[in-house]
Amino acid sequence: MEDLLASAKAVQKNAYAPYSGFSVGASLRTGSGRIYSGCNVENSAYPEGICAEGSAIAMMVADGEQRITEVLVIGNGALPCAPCGGCRQKLSEFSSADTVVHMCSDSGDHQTITMGELMPHAFGAQHLEA
Ligand code: THU
Repeated sequence: MEDLLASAKAVQKNAYAPYSGFSVGASLRTGSGRIYSGCNVENSAYPEGICAEGSAIAMMVADGEQRITEVLVIGNGALPCAPCGGCRQKLSEFSSADTVVHMCSDSGDHQTITMGELMPHAFGAQHLEA
């Protein structure tokens, strides 16, 4: 987890969050063992902002990887940063129920659960089948 944390903290510093003041970094470990990280990028047209998890997923997919084994999210609030609902759906696309999710705060507090616990009854490709 230390390597994921170091990578997420490094990109969290570059978060563009002038509107919320809430800087987020996310790191993903993939099936190959590589780590991909991203930060939130807000916009003056608020809904156009993107979350840290989404930017990390875009880096991963652009590099040719599609299987997430471990996720770490860190935010600068007092509580460990939980992935938002939209990010749970995005992470779920490339995860399995046993994918490990670490939620961290700047103070060092953290909580570790699985994707299955974070998002039970997730909508997935299987629901598109007739
Ligand atoms: N944010 C993330 O980057 N990931 C999450 O899962 C929660 C929220 C960002 C979006 C926005 O830039 C800021 O945190 C405040 O909501």
